[in-house]
Amino acid sequence: MTGSEVFDIIVVGGGPVGLSTGWQAAAQGQRTLVLDRHGFFNERCGTSGAERHWRLQYTQEDLFRLTLETLPRWRRLESLAERTLIHEIGSLWFGDVDVETNEGQIAETMRVMDRLDVRYEALTARDIERRFGFANLPAHYAGFLQPDGGTLDVRGTLAAVYGLAQQEGCVLRGGERVLGLEPDADGVTVRTDRNEYRCAKVVLANGAEVNSLLAPLGCRIDIKLYEMALVTLRCRGHDVDFPFWFVFQQPTEEDTNLFYGFGRNPWSPSELVRLGPVFEVDPIDDADQTRGVPDPRHVARLSNWVGEHLPALDPAPAGASTCLAVLPGDPRRQFYLGLATGLVPDGHNIVLYSSGWGFKFVPLLGEVCVDLALTGQTQHDISRLAPTVPQEAAQ
Ligand code: BEZ
Repeated sequence: MTGSEVFDIIVVGGGPVGLSTGWQAAAQGQRTLVLDRHGFFNERCGTSGAERHWRLQYTQEDLFRLTLETLPRWRRLESLAERTLIHEIGSLWFGDVDVETNEGQIAETMRVMDRLDVRYEALTARDIERRFGFANLPAHYAGFLQPDGGTLDVRGTLAAVYGLAQQEGCVLRGGERVLGLEPDADGVTVRTDRNEYRCAKVVLANGAEVNSLLAPLGCRIDIKLYEMALVTLRCRGHDVDFPFWFVFQQPTEEDTNLFYGFGRNPWSPSELVRLGPVFEVDPIDDADQTRGVPDPRHVARLSNWVGEHLPALDPAPAGASTCLAVLPGDPRRQFYLGLATGLVPDGHNIVLYSSGWGFKFVPLLGEVCVDLALTGQTQHDISRLAPTVPQEAAQ
């Protein structure tokens, strides 16, 4: 095709996974272009806030093995970028150990840690109160501290993968919107609001916006969007310190009753800490519908829980915002990763990554997207993550 700029791989979406893919593709000598409609370092489509949970533990052994495989890749990224990205303040899961949630289940996760020989400390409700300052926990609550977990530095990671992509010669174009994809047997034509490109493979890493490019090709993958509350609270004293914590509780009639919080931010400490509910309720249709203003009921639920159980924090919000959670419609999948073969015509030329709490896998996800683009396969077990269409469309 005359007039088209040609690349080996075009990545749509310059968030953490798109940039990680761009970096690793370019490092393998691939002529690579990363496009981001909103510009790089934006906080749309899920990449909001300073921190993300780093954990090894998963209830599902295959996902657990993926975090273990991701850890050395984070270490390599830290070493190349010369900065710490994982801060091991610990990962504390506690609550009703038999409650099944989309994040997992405590009792089964402890059994998997035993099987995989991953260290942890089992804790009773009283231990958790004494060690971490929680209060009035139901006596049957229990859990564990996994000391290698903690927090990931979101902005540090973005800076690292952006810098490495640039260093490897990846072309990075922000503010350019992809309007359409035309896959064929030999590659993909990519039309944007400024250019037309030709490439062998496209990697879609544009999160919540993935269906806007798949729908014209006759497919929508099954994702759900939630605008979730993020709340900043003030510590009452200077000696307060927490690991990352997540409380598993029986759902209420209204919501999932799940809450989490970060400890003090180790790379930018202040008296403020960030917490949130994980309420998968009231899905929105489109990322453009986010308002940045949390549901006041969700903020009140979190504040009441803190008032009852975390005396070290002032429960009156010092700040509140939202994050966009893009989650698979099928909770057994956690996120989607695979080729679009069978979903759209000539889908073997399109790699799809979308949705889920995938930040902890950033270096691995970039590698897998490159593997799939170059060879159609990967050494990592991603079989559970194959993209699916909504059930009504599949019938
Ligand atoms: C996670 O570890 O995947 C997670 C942590 C907090 C909220 C949601 C997900």
